[in-house]
Amino acid sequence: MGAVGVSAWATITTVNDDWDDYTQMFDSKKIDENQPLEKIVILGGGWAGLNALRKCSGPGKDVVVLSPRPHFLYTPLLAGSAVGTITLRSACEPLRALVNSAAGRSHSATFVRADASEIDVKNKTVRATTGVNGSMELEVTYDKLVIAVGAQPNTFGIPGVDKHALFLKEAEDSAKLHAKLLCNLEQAAALMRVGSKNDRMRQEEIDRLLKIFVVGGGPTGVELAAELADFAHSDVAMRYGQDVSDRIRIVLVEAMPRILAPFDESLANLAKEHLESRGVEVRTGVAITSVSDDEATFAPSTPRNASPEDKAKALAQAKTEQSGALVWAAGIGARPLVKKLAKSLGQNDLRGLKVNSSLCVDGADGVYAIGDAALSGFAPTAQVAAQQGKHIGRAIRDGTDSPFEYKHAGSLVCLGKGNGIAQLLASKGTASFNVWEAIGAPTVGPNGDQRAVTGTPAFVLWRSLYWTKLLSTSSRLSLLADWAKAHISGRDVQEPVLQRRQTVVKLPSVESFGTSLKRNSTIRVINEKAEIQATAPQKKRFWII
Ligand code: FAD
Ligand code: NAI
Repeated sequence: MGAVGVSAWATITTVNDDWDDYTQMFDSKKIDENQPLEKIVILGGGWAGLNALRKCSGPGKDVVVLSPRPHFLYTPLLAGSAVGTITLRSACEPLRALVNSAAGRSHSATFVRADASEIDVKNKTVRATTGVNGSMELEVTYDKLVIAVGAQPNTFGIPGVDKHALFLKEAEDSAKLHAKLLCNLEQAAALMRVGSKNDRMRQEEIDRLLKIFVVGGGPTGVELAAELADFAHSDVAMRYGQDVSDRIRIVLVEAMPRILAPFDESLANLAKEHLESRGVEVRTGVAITSVSDDEATFAPSTPRNASPEDKAKALAQAKTEQSGALVWAAGIGARPLVKKLAKSLGQNDLRGLKVNSSLCVDGADGVYAIGDAALSGFAPTAQVAAQQGKHIGRAIRDGTDSPFEYKHAGSLVCLGKGNGIAQLLASKGTASFNVWEAIGAPTVGPNGDQRAVTGTPAFVLWRSLYWTKLLSTSSRLSLLADWAKAHISGRDVQEPVLQRRQTVVKLPSVESFGTSLKRNSTIRVINEKAEIQATAPQKKRFWII
């Protein structure tokens, strides 16, 4: 048993590239009292920021993590949470607890719940807002700054998207989508149970309520469409009736000629066939051009460099359809903070912060950008963000400066219960034995160095991998319980309670928004609009319970 335990531990830590978590323990807290503390500020507590935090903590470091979101979000579980396959509790990990555990290795580590609004690279300061309605302004000084603020949904300025679409980027988005689906189902079921079947308007309204558009055939849109199809077939039929389930229409709209661009075409086709077999209508080569509260307009998509005549021709073919819910999963773009800094540094590509091979921001001393916020030449994935976070964390901890090397393990997409696709980097094996040949996994990818695993094995791989990579035992237990519950008694159809009021904190609120802000020498409250805080109308915020 012991040997099994040791090998499991060795395998997990080696695979995760985290041996230094264990070796570092032995010389922690060794510090030269005469050296001033190095002030490390990390903006963002996502995949990149959190991994940077875990590695950079060490003797002589004073670390501040600043993020408006109080939890780390395990994004791969988001699609499942939107239809109640899992609860958001399993996907969210409180940042404060993660920062506290890093504090054990550093001189100090502090979490501040705030939005960074401006970075002054000359004076090495970050301005941030916190408090109710952002009424309090903070200034944080740094020696090293890690920008890991991620990205936000890209609406491409398409009319109505900001106002009327739902998204799948944050935990709040998932809760809102779950609530909207359940609310539409209740309304549709009520309309179906009362009144005459010949009432045309009633029937049209039922069809509208039960029509869901998912815009974007990237991995987010595909995983969501698959979850929605499972939900419609099993849980809607069970809880609302087969007649309601039969009338649900899920439409996946993709502007490019095919879905899942990052995957091999054969795998993308397999995913499309699977979705269609589950009743999802996959429309490729079609772009959404405007969105309203209850309608979606789409037209044949045109290449970016198409002539004005071709664009006009496509727009002339635009069609509008009724829609009960439209989820925008059409890609991501830079956050305003990132655009602002890139512009002030004279960078001309504002889709992210341009970095050199060591992930240092061009033209800013001591500033790194990682994850989705960086233009580093790698895809905006959790895999890249986590590796970049570790790289920068180690560079800060050890005072080194080396180029970042990305080790791609593969890509996986979950296609709902019991199905998935995986495109994995494959070792060639020995001349006599190749495990991939043994399991019959075909070669895929442009260089022929990857192998495809599909169906149930890919689903099992997806679940096992993402389960082991969760950050805490409590999340692992919670996720197991969610999966077991969904399997035995169906998905969660409890409508999330939204629009909770943000807890109003009485002054002095400084202490309430961060651990001992006043006691930390790197953070200074520079503006505190106490009266505004007391009288300003409450901005609507969505909280998850
Ligand atoms: P994030 O994880 O988005 O974190 C950004 C952090 O910055 C957050 O804590 C946020 O609160 C904070 N922040 C935002 N603004 C500010 C500000 N002004 N000041 C301070 N802090 C700020 N990738 C995979 O590899 N595999 C998957 O299976 C996968 N599944 C996904 C599923 C979904 C539904 C989505 C949306 C994405 C998925 N991704 C996946 C992509 C992956 O989640 C992202 O690439 C990854 O989250 C990027 O990490 P990040 O740390 O750069 O940003
Ligand atoms: P994406 O950028 O990968 O895909 C968005 C899709 O929307 C594109 O295919 C685009 O052509 C399409 N689109 C854009 N505008 C449109 C319009 N107006 N009408 C119709 N279609 C339109 O975005 P996604 O899926 O959110 O992924 C973001 C990142 O997160 C990617 O790097 C992805 O690999 C990663 N991710 C990985 C997952 C996994 O590994 N399982 C799961 C989810 C995301």
